[in-house]
Amino acid sequence: MNRTIKSFCSRWRRRAAALVCAALAALAVGCGGASEPPVLRVGVALYTQDDTFISTIAQELERMARQEEQARGMRINLSVVDGRSNQTTQLDQIDSLIGRGCDALCVNIVDRTAAAVLIDKAREAGVPLIFFNRQPVAEDMLRWEHAYYVGAKAEESGVLQGQLVLEAWQADPGLDRNGDGVLQYVMLEGEPGHQDAMLRTEYAVKALTDAGVAVEKLASDTANWKRGQAMAKAQQWLEDPGAAAIEVVFANNDDMALGAIDAFEQAGEPLPLVVGVDATAPALEAVETGKLYGTVRNDGAGIARAMLDLALALTDGSDPAGAVDLVDGHYVWLPYRAITARDLARQTP
Ligand code: GAL
Ligand code: CA
Repeated sequence: MNRTIKSFCSRWRRRAAALVCAALAALAVGCGGASEPPVLRVGVALYTQDDTFISTIAQELERMARQEEQARGMRINLSVVDGRSNQTTQLDQIDSLIGRGCDALCVNIVDRTAAAVLIDKAREAGVPLIFFNRQPVAEDMLRWEHAYYVGAKAEESGVLQGQLVLEAWQADPGLDRNGDGVLQYVMLEGEPGHQDAMLRTEYAVKALTDAGVAVEKLASDTANWKRGQAMAKAQQWLEDPGAAAIEVVFANNDDMALGAIDAFEQAGEPLPLVVGVDATAPALEAVETGKLYGTVRNDGAGIARAMLDLALALTDGSDPAGAVDLVDGHYVWLPYRAITARDLARQTP
């Protein structure tokens, strides 16, 4: 057993012992003694707070932590910090969370290629590290047994998005506006280098070409997950006389899909088939009104649940594999689900 693992284990034993003592002390209250409930301190580092999907994960975490407090008679302190899309800022924030004695870290890393430094810091301090949504490269994850990743498989969301379009294309010949038998599309991409941006872009189109659909890319650009940036890009495309040929807009997330819809509406152009990913509240509304053809649900609540379960198991001394479905000792995968107006109608009683 090396030194850092030893330090993790002794820290972990101290923590488990502290929780047991506090629980015993809590029992003693009934016999006249006063005591504080045990406290779990979790540092939550977001790459930015200014991201619709990420802020839903943070809200879910808060909500679930409050529920667990009730259920377990303990306190859960979440310290949420905003990395403002700057890796140096985030590393400083994590140093300070560790310095303040947090028991577990949940990290939505700014630059996923910078994970090694962070894993080494956490290992040194003996604080279990749960990455989420922005996936470190596999080799980095092997640096420490208590580095975890909670997220969803990017390829899966791409395939599901492509299948949504395939289904619509096959069902409605009118989607082929120029009747050339080829699906003309534009692609709005998330941040360059993000696993979800790269793989959704690739697999959405692959789902169509694998099914024998001929496709033609008219334009593609990054809009960094943002509605405003996507609207600006789509406005540029719409200035081109060839824009009328756009039959499908693929967007790597819902905010960008909504930005594209904003641009078409503002230009007074008929909406093409638009698809997104995440199933945010405004996107589901747009699905209901028929502006957005479909989306792929990114399970933010599932991610929050798994992180909290992992953090609780890792700090109370139980086996993390008993608390979550752990793959290869490091990964928890949440499934994606495609959603169209039909699915929403089915859910409404
Ligand atoms: C993706 C999500 C995007 C954005 C991004 C941030 O999974 O679809 O909307 O939140 O994560 O890392
Ligand atoms: Ca066509």
